[in-house]
This record gives sequence, structure tokens and C-alpha cells, in this order.
Amino acid sequence: MNAPVRLRPEIAALPPYRQGKQASPDAFKLSSNENPFEPLPAVVEALHGALHVNRYPDASAAELRGVLAARFGVEIDEVHVGAGSVSILSQLLLAVAQPGDEVVYAWRSFEAYPGLVTVAGANSAQVPLDTDGRHDLQTMAKAVTDRTRAVIVCSPNNPTGEIVTTAEFEAFMSAVPETVLVILDEAYAEFVTDEAAVDGQSLTERHPNLVILRTFSKAYGLAGLRVGYAVGPAYVLDAARSTAIPLSVTEPGLRAAVVSLEHEDELLERVGRITMLRDQVRQALVDQGWKVPRAFGNFVWLPTGEHTAHAAEVFARHGLVVRAFAPEGIRVSIGESSSVDKLLAAAQELVRSI
Ligand SMILES: Cc1ncc(COP(=O)(O)O)c(C=O)c1O
Repeated sequence: MNAPVRLRPEIAALPPYRQGKQASPDAFKLSSNENPFEPLPAVVEALHGALHVNRYPDASAAELRGVLAARFGVEIDEVHVGAGSVSILSQLLLAVAQPGDEVVYAWRSFEAYPGLVTVAGANSAQVPLDTDGRHDLQTMAKAVTDRTRAVIVCSPNNPTGEIVTTAEFEAFMSAVPETVLVILDEAYAEFVTDEAAVDGQSLTERHPNLVILRTFSKAYGLAGLRVGYAVGPAYVLDAARSTAIPLSVTEPGLRAAVVSLEHEDELLERVGRITMLRDQVRQALVDQGWKVPRAFGNFVWLPTGEHTAHAAEVFARHGLVVRAFAPEGIRVSIGESSSVDKLLAAAQELVRSI
């Protein structure tokens, strides 16, 4: 088609967003790291009570921010709520980066990072993961230049599943100038079972340049309602708030998040079931002969390399929709327990041919 509108060239060059394939009714959707459990009855009830959709939501998200501030032991202005943590990440990048600036992050990591950096007008400086799928924080610190405005650290890393340790993160924070914003993306924090892992909650108010990102999409099972939050210095979060599209967090989302925190024990019991299944799946894959990185999110990573497209087809034949990142590997979410036999059968078939 004739395309007369003058687009920003770097935006026109971005691959258009395509959501992970929708699963056919009889397939398991293990491609978006979603929570397989249905919402809690209390959440469904709260949603019914939040249906005054002729009114705008509370733009300040005061109730949810108040609850989160109390949990983290911070002031309410040190908490920010967004329509998913990914939108807060976008706001933070818009707040710090101008054309010509750089944002450092590990690669491969969360697939949204490159696009969000480009949209903010900045350039990506990607630092390869090490051979175990872990962040190489020493090299990342060295990649910081005068042009660097932000560094994103993802722990556990999507898609490899490995964590950054507290010791590694502390060393990294002391090596990075305080003028550079560090964003610790902890979307999968609740699934972490390694005590050595960095925990943003213990770091808030210790660094004037650190913001942690968390979400209700994964452990709390509210992906469809789009609620995430940030904890960090008020002056940084005020800047993020200034770039935000007002009123984009909805009242049902806010209500569901507050009620989820009130019923956290039930949700964390589910998280425990998912992490147990994850550990069993990873061990079974290792036993099959796969070199699977340690998995601390709600997913496992299969390094299928040049066979990635073929591997995704094999999974599809077994009734599983997975996320393929050719030519590196396949990320498989830990979903319904009834999907595990199919997952292991597909992996067993593949390990013989790869
Ligand atoms: C590392 C990471 N950060 C952020 C997000 C986005 O989460 P949200 O649904 O809160 O926008 C995801 C979702 O897959 C993720 O994997």
C-alpha cells in the first residue's frame, strides 16, 4: 500500500507488535508466562464491585500505593502504580533518555526492552548474557559511558530464568555512577527460591538512583487487568508520573490488586505449587540431557539454538504453544500441571534430534 505519512524512521523499522500465538482450544498456552490459576473468588467479587465504569479511576491510585508503601516501609510518593510494570518502564525511559543517549541491558532479556528504548529516542547497549544465561554485571558496569542514562537489570531474567545475587548487585551499584538510573525489573520476584538472589525490597531507600519494578501480572494472576508498580526515590517516580498517560490504570485493576494483597497467602500458596512444578520440570529436562539454566521464574529455557523453529513446531504438535526466540532457544511457561507430560514428551523427542 502507498504509505505517505512520514514516520520516525527508527519507529518504522521496529517489528510490529505481534502477541504470542493464541492457543487453539485444546492446546496449552505456555508462551506468555501467565499464571494458570483462575482468579480468586474474592477478586471476582471485587471486580463486580468496581463496575462504576462511567467514572474515571482514582488517578493517584492512593489506596493501592498506601498498602504497598506500608509493606515496603517507604513513603507513599516512593511508590508508583502503572498499567503493567512495562508501562512504568516506558515512563522511566522517557523521563531519563533523549536522542543519542544510551540504555544498557543484558541480552537476551525481556523482549520489550529494545522497542521501549527506541521509542524513548535512545540507543540500546546490549551486553550478552554469560554461557549460563546470567547477567554479566561487571561487563554491564563497564558498558556505562557518559551517554548512559539508564541500566535495566532483570532478575530473574526473562527468558533464561537465572537470578542476579545480592553481592553481584551491590558490587554493580557501587560501580555505576549515581547519575545513572538503575531499574531492577523483578517481575518474577515471588517465584524466587534462591536465598542469594537480590531482593529489591531490602534495597529501597539505600540508593538514590535505584527503582525496582514489580507486577500483579505473574504471581498474583492479574495479567489481564494490567497493574504493576515501582518503588524508588520520589524524585525519579515524580518524573515517571510526568511522562505517564493519565488515568491509564483502571478501577477494576486497582481494586483487584488491593484485594489480592489482602489474600496474599492463598496466592503465594499457588506460587509455591508453581515453583515446585517448575523445579520438577527443570530436573526432568536435565535428566533428559538438556542444559537448562537454573529456573527462578515461572518458566524454563531450552537452548535449542539453530533448531529453535523446528523445536517450536514439535511443541505445537504436542499441543503446546511456547515462545520461540530463534536462533537461541525456547521459553516454556509453567502452566497447568496437566501440561507437564506433554512438555516432557516434546522435549524428549527433541533432545534426541538436536
Ligand atoms: C521481565 C518482565 N518485566 C516486565 C513484564 C511486564 O509485566 P506487566 O504485565 O506488569 O507489564 C514482563 C512480562 O512478561 C516481564 O517478563
